[in-house]
Amino acid sequence: MSQVQLKNIKKVYGSHVALKDINLSIDSGAFFTLLGPSGCGKTTLLRAIAGFHQQDAGDILVDGQSIIHLGANQRNVGMVFQDYAVFPHLSVFDNVAFGLTQQKVPAADIGQRVREMLATVQLDEHAQRMPHQLSGGQQQRVGLARALVTRPKVLLMDEPLSNLDAKLRVDLRRDIRVLQQSFGITTVYVTHDQEEALSISDRVCVMHDGVVQQVGTPWDVYNRPANRFVASFVGSNNFMPLARDAAGAAMLLGQATAVPQAVQGKLNSRCVAAIRRECVRVNQATAEPGLLASGVLRQAMFTGRELQLTIDIAGHGLIEALATPTAAMMALQTGQTVDLAMQASDILYFSEGTTGALLQ
Ligand SMILES: Nc1ncnc2c1ncn2[C@@H]1O[C@H](COP(=O)(O)OP(=O)(O)OP(=O)(O)O)[C@@H](O)[C@H]1O
Ligand SMILES: [Mg+2]
Repeated sequence: MSQVQLKNIKKVYGSHVALKDINLSIDSGAFFTLLGPSGCGKTTLLRAIAGFHQQDAGDILVDGQSIIHLGANQRNVGMVFQDYAVFPHLSVFDNVAFGLTQQKVPAADIGQRVREMLATVQLDEHAQRMPHQLSGGQQQRVGLARALVTRPKVLLMDEPLSNLDAKLRVDLRRDIRVLQQSFGITTVYVTHDQEEALSISDRVCVMHDGVVQQVGTPWDVYNRPANRFVASFVGSNNFMPLARDAAGAAMLLGQATAVPQAVQGKLNSRCVAAIRRECVRVNQATAEPGLLASGVLRQAMFTGRELQLTIDIAGHGLIEALATPTAAMMALQTGQTVDLAMQASDILYFSEGTTGALLQ
């Protein structure tokens, strides 16, 4: 088990700053996920840890020792890629054995370790197959086995599930988590899929534009987003502009609203309120008092597990709600007026700007 520290990492491509002063501390044995939109610098950061490229500034420490002067093959990290990257001309067995052969492990030990690893990823029956005889999910298991068999200090995974279909993604996600926990291996995982990040991680690091926006438990980044960017990327929030009436009171959806003290003091600058879709109750009262509104149902989409509703609040734009698809909800017709209720405690407030901070 190994602790990983990134200190003041900077990476520039031409005039584009891909990583701006990244500082992270990853606990030994943790499953740590970099989550962010395309182009935010996730792969760039992972490749710097792997040693596939040099950062322009900063240090990377594993168990307190700097590794930036070591080549990729000396860093003792395992890497799993999005496109599997298994050797097409080697059998499953030989793919997994490759790193051990490179390390000059005795042949008898290689055989045993590869067989054990293949059993762990449930590929023991396919040891002699070639990669083209495997499904995508099986190829990715080979990639995982190949990375783990050398017993690396750190496992790096760059969107390893994104080429797989939805069902397989969920199955393999569970397997990866079980393996990671049983090996106790410190893992840095990259994804742009928020559900994947929330479900698999001990800690989630949300990135935007080469900058860390928040590091926290899945619960924290979902329920207590540090800023507006995190709230927009994680958790499908509705944003509602906050206005002031003539007397200086806060107005939300055209109504005077009691806001927390921290927000009242900031009302002079423009800030927004946010509420997640599943916290907007449709034709249903809330347990606590809060904000009430009514609007016209514009769209209803049934996804099996839930009903996604889009409601137009006259003069205030669209609000999205997630409802349980009960018979009454399924009977709603577009064009119909519905009542919305939002609990005060479910509403968060952010200061102005794309990365405006949570006001609390
Ligand atoms: N070799 C390169 N030369 C120039 N620019 C690059 C290079 N590699 C990455 N970039 C740029 O750096 C930024 C970060 O890229 P990176 O690949 O790290 O993003 P990412 O978060 O992994 O995105 P994705 O989710 O699409 O994989 C992007 O703007 C990208 O265009
Ligand atoms: Mg990437």
